[in-house]
Amino acid sequence: MELKEQIDLNKLPKHIAIIMDGNGRWAKERGKLRVFGHSKGVDSVRQVVEAAVEIGVSYLTLYAFSTENWKRPKLEVIALMEILVSAINKETQTLMKNGVRLNAIGDLKQLPEACFKQLSKAIDLTSNNTNCTLTLALSYSSRQEIADATKRIVKQVCDGKLSIEQIDQDVVSSNLETANMPDPELMIRTSGEQRISNFLLWQLAYSELYFVDKLWPEFNKNDFYEAIIAYQKRERRFGLISEQLS
Ligand code: IPE
Ligand code: IPE
Ligand code: MG
Repeated sequence: MELKEQIDLNKLPKHIAIIMDGNGRWAKERGKLRVFGHSKGVDSVRQVVEAAVEIGVSYLTLYAFSTENWKRPKLEVIALMEILVSAINKETQTLMKNGVRLNAIGDLKQLPEACFKQLSKAIDLTSNNTNCTLTLALSYSSRQEIADATKRIVKQVCDGKLSIEQIDQDVVSSNLETANMPDPELMIRTSGEQRISNFLLWQLAYSELYFVDKLWPEFNKNDFYEAIIAYQKRERRFGLISEQLS
């Protein structure tokens, strides 16, 4: 039986988040420059977006660039930004064809102007698509996102629009950049690293974490399906005991 057919469509995660890691090592293994791995990584992005649409995953969030990544060698940062612009440019038609709405979270004002413009254009163009929301985390830091949410909440309190007693988990969630999305049920990280690296700290509170050794440029549709199948075999207890779940 094909892998895809082993997926239980009634138990599909609504939101899958991915830390796309290992581009540099993939290139190095082949005696090439790190940026070659970033370019190749775009093919894997296309594969998982198509796979998500094919089976009906509503939200896909990809960690593409962290605020910490700005500290990488300048040439790599510039190359990454260029790859991003050309990938968005090249893939917009595919997003339209697949009914994918593009979205972005992070400190987008830090992006080079060309990059920000290309991104905004694609976000606008795809804004009415409803099959899947593809969110790119760019210049993203989860701690910063939480700090920004805190500022917004304090401002609402100062302005008399919210009382301190009203601040609960929903208020915090709705002031994050992910306000309109469900929390990811599944988080995948490639390249064998087992850490969160400042990605969606609040939103991943109860996500199933799936770590795979494959490097991002090698990751394909079947790997994505395998992650979902593994997720579906897990028992999500949310603090309860097995017997309470049935
Ligand atoms: C992930 O691959 C892409 C970004 C962080 C932009 P890396 O560039 O981190 O690749 P490795 O981890 O060095 O192999
Ligand atoms: C995390 O990857 C960020 C992205 C995938 C964009 P890194 O490769 O930068 O993570 P660390 O620093 O090794 O944890
Ligand atoms: Mg890395």
